[in-house]
Formats: sequence, C-alpha cells, structure tokens
Amino acid sequence: MPILALRSLNKRWGDTHVVRDLDLETREGEFVALLGPSGCGKSTTLRLIAGLEEPTSGAILLDGRDITDAPSARRGIAMVFQSYALFPHLTVAQNITFGLSVRGESRKAQAEKLARVAPLLGLGALLDRRPSQLSGGQQQRVALGRALIAEAPICLLDEPLSNLDAKLRAEMRSEIRALQRRLGLTMIFVTHDQTEAMSMADRVALLNAGRIEQFDTPETLYRRPASAFVARFIGSPPMNLLSPRDLGVFGEALPPTATVGLRPEDVRVVSGGLPGRVVEVEYLGADSVLSVDVGGPRIAVRLQGRPRLGAGAPVELGWDPEALHLFDAETGLRRQAAATPPHLKHVMAT
Ligand SMILES: Nc1ncnc2c1ncn2[C@@H]1O[C@H](COP(=O)(O)OP(=O)(O)OP(=O)(O)O)[C@@H](O)[C@H]1O
Ligand SMILES: [Mg+2]
Repeated sequence: MPILALRSLNKRWGDTHVVRDLDLETREGEFVALLGPSGCGKSTTLRLIAGLEEPTSGAILLDGRDITDAPSARRGIAMVFQSYALFPHLTVAQNITFGLSVRGESRKAQAEKLARVAPLLGLGALLDRRPSQLSGGQQQRVALGRALIAEAPICLLDEPLSNLDAKLRAEMRSEIRALQRRLGLTMIFVTHDQTEAMSMADRVALLNAGRIEQFDTPETLYRRPASAFVARFIGSPPMNLLSPRDLGVFGEALPPTATVGLRPEDVRVVSGGLPGRVVEVEYLGADSVLSVDVGGPRIAVRLQGRPRLGAGAPVELGWDPEALHLFDAETGLRRQAAATPPHLKHVMAT
C-alpha cells in the first residue's frame, strides 16, 4: 500500500493562510484522522491531497514520487466530499458506479462490485431511487459507496458521517473501519468530532488554524497532550486548565508560569484536599460531572454513578500528582512535570 507524505505544505487564499507548513506521513494501510475545529483547514488539506487545489508551496509525495503537479485523476486517490455532490438525474446504482463506467469497466464487473458495496452500506433496497428520494444520511452513504467501489489504495473522507443519526453513525464507524482493514486501504478521515477520531484512527492529526498541533496515537493525545489546545480538544468534559494559584497550597510547588491541566476523571472527592463547593451536578447515567467552585475558578470532576452531593455541598478534591499536566502559560506547550514536595504527596494521593 502506498505511503502518502505531505512536506511543508502551504495554502493561501490571498491574505488568508489556511494550511501552514503541514508535515505528515502515513504508514502502510493506516487510518489517519484529521481532526480540528471548523475552519482550521481540514477540507482544504484533503483537496490538496486529491489534487483539487494547488498548494502555494510544499510537496505531496506518494511512495516517494512527487505528485504535487499530477492531475487529480492520475493520483489513484478516491475522495468522499463533505457536500456529497450526487448526480440528481442518475439512480443510486448509477451514481455509485459512475466512476467505473467512465473508466470503461464492463457492465458485469460494475454489477459485481456494486453487489459487494451496496449491502455494506445498507443501500441494497434503494438502488433504483434518485438522490432527491433519499434522506441526507442515505445520500451520504451513496457518496461513500462511490469512493469505496473505486478500490483506490488511498481513500479520503471528508466528514462522511456528519448527517447520520447517532445509532447509524456508530454502526458506520465500525463498518468503515472494518472495510478499511479488510481492503488494506490507507484512509484519511476528516472530522471535527473527537470521539470519531479517537475511536477510529490509528493516529490523529489535530489541526489548529492550519497547523498540526499534534500527530500521534489517540492514547498519546489523551495521555500526553503536546499543548493546552490538544488538552482541551481531546477528552470530555475537557481538561481543567488552572493556574497554580487556583490550587492553593497544592499549587505551591508548581512553577508559577505554568498552566496546570487536570482531567475531570483524575479528580476525586477526598478528605484533606482542596476545599470547594459543588455548583452543579450533571448526571449522565454511568457517571456524573460535578462543577466545583474552588474560590473563583471551577473544576469539573467526573465521578462514577450519581454522587450523594447536591449543589451547595462542601467538598475537598484530591488527585494523584502524576495526573497533573503542565503547560507553558505563554506558549501553551507541554512542559516536563515538576516533582511534588513529599509533605503534600499523601494528601493529594488519598
Ligand atoms: N476557495 C476559498 N477561497 C477563500 N477562502 C477559502 C476557500 N476555501 C476555504 N477557504 C477558507 O479557508 C479556511 C479553511 O477552510 P476549510 O474548508 O479547509 O475548513 P474545515 O476545517 O474543513 O472546516 P469545516 O469543519 O467547517 O468543514 C476557512 O477560513 C475558509 O473560509
Ligand atoms: Mg470542511
């Protein structure tokens, strides 16, 4: 399977610098998620890879071969667009096989491939309909079918699940993942949904304003976020970001110029910890999220089940010293963790 590499890729539209010095290299048969907030340059990056836009500078390599100037159709890359752009006058079947017929594949080959792809996407009963007779989610699946049937070694997907309801979405996630593994495809999957990226991808590239903040496995993004931006973007509810002062005596040993990160799931209710008062309890079923006022800032705390603590209840919070993340307050970049003074260790770890 081919290896795709982006080297210092840049894209400007006039004054707007949309893609900035992007460096990224896939591994064989890898599922990469491009994750980031709206407008951060995800679709533009995919369109550059597909050859639908020209980069301002930088290079795109396929197995070491420079394809930066190669025409889109010659790249061996299939793409599912964010707006699915189906042909309204063609049936579902014709939409899916359109690319194959353009390439002059026999009717028999087309029918065989269609028979394989359609059931995977739950489109078997809809093949004779036209796009206007389909729901948004069904149209999205047709667009997906059109890319999968091409059997291109690299498949780019731009938010292919955004119009599906929660249940179908979860099903399609595992379908796409299974299909990708079975066919050994290299997939680049754009999403702004962290759960989707974390649950599907081998590695996640998190983009912020056209730059890669971090490109690593889901676990590393969660456990060792490279910046405060990553820390806030990955995890739900987001990581608490505080100044050492907010932690009172427990922040004394921490560098004053650091931003301290603490995941809601790493905070516990203890005795002898940081005092605060419960402001709000959000019950989610398996667990609950408490918002605790610690004298100004609030700390989100995730607890199992439904705690016997209502709004207004006084609590004390503790955490393992290892659970603290430190970021530079100015640059937002991760710093090495500082040692906890021994006299506080037992309190924080209770
Ligand atoms: N043809 C264009 N001309 C000028 N600006 C553009 C063009 N296409 C995109 N942009 C701008 O580039 C930025 C990135 O757009 P892009 O579509 O790549 O974002 P995205 O990350 O895919 O966002 P979303 O999650 O909303 O789809 C946006 O600010 C957008 O307005
Ligand atoms: Mg987009």
